[in-house]
Amino acid sequence: MSSVTVADAVAVLRRGGLVAFPTETVYGLGCDAENLEALHRLYAVKRRPSDHPVIVHIPGADALDRWSHDASPSARKLAEARWPGPLTLVVPRSDRVSDAVTGGRDTVGLRVPEPPIALELLAAFGGGIAAPSANRFGRVSPTTATDVRHDLGDDVDLVLDGGPCEVGLESTIVDCSTEPPAILRLGGIPTDEIATILGATVDLRIDGAVAAPGTMPAHYAPAAEVIVVEAGAAAARAAALLASGRRVGVLAADPVPRDLPAGVVVLDPPGDVDEYAHVLYARLRDADRQALDVVLAVPPADAGIGAAIADRLARAARGSAQ
Ligand code: TXA
Ligand code: MG
Repeated sequence: MSSVTVADAVAVLRRGGLVAFPTETVYGLGCDAENLEALHRLYAVKRRPSDHPVIVHIPGADALDRWSHDASPSARKLAEARWPGPLTLVVPRSDRVSDAVTGGRDTVGLRVPEPPIALELLAAFGGGIAAPSANRFGRVSPTTATDVRHDLGDDVDLVLDGGPCEVGLESTIVDCSTEPPAILRLGGIPTDEIATILGATVDLRIDGAVAAPGTMPAHYAPAAEVIVVEAGAAAARAAALLASGRRVGVLAADPVPRDLPAGVVVLDPPGDVDEYAHVLYARLRDADRQALDVVLAVPPADAGIGAAIADRLARAARGSAQ
């Protein structure tokens, strides 16, 4: 474990540096949300197009009105119910939010992360921390401090190590600037839970490439090609790929598909759907470490966080097809 402290991280943020920190979803690459120079560097390190907005992390629901202007009753209900938690709310922005954060939009994405170390950092810093996931644009998000160092090296000034992220998939993004609110990205909180909190149905706008760049069709991709298959088709597909000389892995929850041909690498299978989310990105990274050419991924059932897993696998598959 590192001997780096929250106070060290605050000092780096105050002088405009970049700090990677753990959230319950994935590690974020953070900077002072009100420092334009720091924001420019953040985008450069991320290799992220400047019109793609970043989320501002805030210390608690009581900071909502500092960062938003006239947040709707729906936004307040969701914040009250699920902050801290894996939930990002898109709301009209307040004057302290610059175009550099929102890519010129008049809305801002806000979220209160859950781990004590993240909340401690936010409380001690006092301001908002703008943070995308701490990976290069379009690649697999990091769920450990080691992943962050591997991906970003010296481009990040300090990494706060809080161990592996509990949820393992990015936050659910709900656009509360419209009524009814719309889900822009599936994530840690299932759609039916959002609807229950609101006491109403919600729209799904998860395919809008412009609505939220994390929802671009191709994203979250490892170097290996990802192919999504049903469990029953995995063995035949693996055999065909092996016959063409490719190194093949299978990612599936326990019990893994039967009758897989010899030579297939079975990536350590998660036991249930929550564990699948927790280990998904780590397994995709394992596939790259083992220099696999192809990962045959069997998605879990569509319920709960399973929908978000299936979404990420589909995008990883499209990403690797390019
Ligand atoms: O779980 C998470 O949300 C992680 C942790 C670090 O908090 N962060 C994360 O950030 O996934 P990033 O930058 O990889 O994805 C942020 C997503 C993007 O899809 C972006 O388009 C969307 O949030 N977003 C941010 N502000 C927005 C806005 N004003 N309108 C629409 N989408 C927005
Ligand atoms: Mg990301």
